[in-house]
Amino acid sequence: MYNLLKGKKGIIFGALNEQSIAWKTAQVCFKEGAELVLTNAPIALRMGEINKLSAECNNAPVIPADVVNMDDLKKLFDESMKHFGGGIDFILHSIGMSLNVRKGKSYTEIDYNFNQKTLDISAMSLHRVLRTAWDMDALNESASVLALTYIAAQRVFPDYNEMADAKALLESVARSFGYYYGVRKKVRVNTVSQSPTKTTAGSGVKGFDGFMSYAEKMSPLGNASAEDCANYCALLFSDYAKMVTMQNLFHDGGFSLTGVTTQVIEQMEK
Ligand code: NAI
Repeated sequence: MYNLLKGKKGIIFGALNEQSIAWKTAQVCFKEGAELVLTNAPIALRMGEINKLSAECNNAPVIPADVVNMDDLKKLFDESMKHFGGGIDFILHSIGMSLNVRKGKSYTEIDYNFNQKTLDISAMSLHRVLRTAWDMDALNESASVLALTYIAAQRVFPDYNEMADAKALLESVARSFGYYYGVRKKVRVNTVSQSPTKTTAGSGVKGFDGFMSYAEKMSPLGNASAEDCANYCALLFSDYAKMVTMQNLFHDGGFSLTGVTTQVIEQMEK
């Protein structure tokens, strides 16, 4: 460990269980010297799993917040700032939920009410989080905000369904708000586009296992794990990345720029 985040204070959204990318990121940030507040939707906290993570992170407070409820978000920032005795240095937005996928509706037959909720929870929620921080002036100078995304925002992956549109919107919000927050307070806002990863959200995608092994064969470095992603997030929260903003950063072992690999060609020739 390098003490990359010594003295920094951060809020981690989305640690559901030990597989969650947010869970691993909280562990790395803590080891790198950060103080944390953990948050998730009230229903996700009911299982109580997160208390294990909190105990590992010096009893980090666990504050419930439904990310589409502005009152919850205000309370979260308020209590976090009281706990830290000041402003916040980094935020991880690690949240995704597709109602149409859950209800088994394909892309060509989506229900638009579900779709609105999907876009709100998975994408506009980043705006809601940033807006709350903006209104409360909760972020310190040069704070770093990251949201997790997927390459289906740029290219078609059929079973990713409406989440592709949600991720495209999420990346756009990161760019747009990143502009305003950069000018106002040098705050950085980026998205990390992660390899397919076996988690609760990931496994919700149809044909996920086949898809994961395809991505593995299509990536010169192989798929990036949740642990690798956590390390990258910690780096991006640190001062070493303080001039990086409004970017969509691929963390995918090279998948995004690979046309084909010999492994895939050999497989096709069989
Ligand atoms: P996960 O299922 O562990 O995390 C998703 C989190 O979103 C859960 O903790 C859940 O409680 C939270 N959430 C859902 N609705 C919420 C609400 N209304 N308010 C607050 N929190 C809410 O799965 P994972 O994979 O760790 O997902 C984290 C992020 O990474 C998501 O944005 C996902 O789309 C993204 N991602 C995941 C990939 C994968 O293959 N697993 C690949 C690329 C990106």
